[in-house]
Amino acid sequence: MPVDIIVGGQGGDEGKGKICAYLAYKDDYRYSIKIGGPNAGHTVFFKDRIYALKSIPAGFVNAKAKLLLGAGTYIITDWLIKEIADTRSQDRVIIDPNAVIIEPRQMALERGDERMMKSIGSVGTGLGAAVRERVERRKIRFAKDEPRLRRFIKDVPALLNRALEKGDKVLLEGTQGMKLSLLHGEYPFVTSRDTTASTFLAEAGLGPRYVRDVYAIFKPYVTRVGPGPLEKEIKDGSRLKVHHTRGREVGSVSGRLRRVGDFEERSAFRTVAINSATKVAITHIDIFPGNEGRKRIADFTPSAKNFLRKAERLSGIYPHPKLALVSYGPGLLDVIDLRRSR
Ligand code: IMP
Ligand code: MG
Repeated sequence: MPVDIIVGGQGGDEGKGKICAYLAYKDDYRYSIKIGGPNAGHTVFFKDRIYALKSIPAGFVNAKAKLLLGAGTYIITDWLIKEIADTRSQDRVIIDPNAVIIEPRQMALERGDERMMKSIGSVGTGLGAAVRERVERRKIRFAKDEPRLRRFIKDVPALLNRALEKGDKVLLEGTQGMKLSLLHGEYPFVTSRDTTASTFLAEAGLGPRYVRDVYAIFKPYVTRVGPGPLEKEIKDGSRLKVHHTRGREVGSVSGRLRRVGDFEERSAFRTVAINSATKVAITHIDIFPGNEGRKRIADFTPSAKNFLRKAERLSGIYPHPKLALVSYGPGLLDVIDLRRSR
């Protein structure tokens, strides 16, 4: 069963890009597929460079992997073309003909909508406007209509199904997080799509049958880049500063300083259940004072160890996900991999 799915366990920006890149680099995924819109930035530190990806799967770090965009992807053509050049992935990008192009007028529509920008805190990429027009069955532009993308267009579901039949492995890179799901999140402070594993499959053009693992990604704290609930929001200036500097909690697409709150356990339990998570990954463990640079759990500070014990409580929820990865820094390989030792 060779499809693994990455989902955000909190308010987005849990470090999914880094985890996707790590898994793609370490394991032999032949395909990395991204869905959703360019409002979701994935940050990847690779070969002395920082890539702030909005369109290309973070799995580009595996040179052998094909990089797919599914029918549930929303594309800003100029951004995508630039990213393809930047990651030198011209020969391995494949785009579903039914992926949707976000047109400049849709971005302008969203940015001109005060309610969307102020009350909801939209990133302003035009994703919401494009999704709405698709639902309204308006005349929208698809990837197959865009001459600059013509050379990349292929039937993604057909290709994936042939690959799965051969036993090839697929990494499905989810976007945003549980709190932002249109179905299960904190409405109305949510994005314009559902952000759970089943929807990601549908957006890619895959059925549920080949799923092996669902990795739910969590930070030891929760962030939100826009308005909306944060159960235990941190207001203390000096604590916030640590998050904004050492924790790099600045919006990768929006550039805004993110709001920060303490870990929300109840919401994390829901993430496990709704996504059928089988594995848990913890990122940003270096946020605990004194834990920077520590690369073995045995060497962690008491507060970092204490948090990992709390994270292990997620295994109590069906289907009992195992703590699999702990990320201790931004680098691609700054990961403690517990998968083989348990
Ligand atoms: P929109 O999806 O751009 O309309 O934004 C709706 C809400 O989701 C706002 O609070 C955004 O800040 C938030 N949001 C959208 N995408 C992301 C993301 O990738 N990371 C974190 N928050 C996001
Ligand atoms: Mg992000």
